[in-house]
Amino acid sequence: MRKKIVAGNWKMNKNAAEAEELMIQLLEYKKQHNTLCEVWIAPPSLYLMMAKDLFKNNEIGVFSQDMSAQDSGAYTGEISADMLKSIDADGSLIGHSERRQYHQENDKSCAVKIKKALGKGLTPVYCNGETLDQRKGGQHLDVVKTQTETALFDLSAEEIKKVVIAYEPVWAIGTGETASPEQAQEIHAHIRKIIAEKYGEEVADEISILYGGSVKPDNAKEIFSQPDIDGGLIGGAALKVEDFSKIIEGFNA
Ligand code: PGA
Repeated sequence: MRKKIVAGNWKMNKNAAEAEELMIQLLEYKKQHNTLCEVWIAPPSLYLMMAKDLFKNNEIGVFSQDMSAQDSGAYTGEISADMLKSIDADGSLIGHSERRQYHQENDKSCAVKIKKALGKGLTPVYCNGETLDQRKGGQHLDVVKTQTETALFDLSAEEIKKVVIAYEPVWAIGTGETASPEQAQEIHAHIRKIIAEKYGEEVADEISILYGGSVKPDNAKEIFSQPDIDGGLIGGAALKVEDFSKIIEGFNA
């Protein structure tokens, strides 16, 4: 059975005191509830060690929002896979659409980062998805296919099994507009089929594919009930424990 996951992407939100408060609230929630999915957070990298200190028994997975394609050296502002591993982080988001939009990230750089992450035993959460123009132009299936192949198809079967994919249509991120459960399911099944064609059904069946883009307490359950949707990558609604916990409970309901 593949993993069910609800992951919170905090983006560039919260000062240190606020971050600590939310982490403590999440930990309390996690201790008091028998969640039917794994719970992960991707706070700003400044707070990753704080998260590791608080989640002593790995109650909540700790991910960075990005990591470097380089091993080490003169790359101001970057953090490496080795640094993440050295604080026992669980993995990193890779290729989030905001990194693509503002930091020239592309599928080729994602491919390098994914390899580096796996090489250090970190879980890459590879984010992809089409823009509004691509969806309107009917190119969404092709776009996601190219993204998936370019970023992942240099991996071995053993490697790709360790990747988590987050399908996040760009037009649904932070806009309040969500893909319908059927629209999301269509792409998730499509991604799984593309992987199955290259690596076989068994491998494709093991890969968790999360949906991201305006997941909220009131739509999580329906989205998560789709057969190829294994959870969510949550932005805005991950910033309050009340909302995030209700989304986690989308799996209990
Ligand atoms: P959103 O963000 O839930 O605020 O739309 C999702 C994401 O960017 O990962």
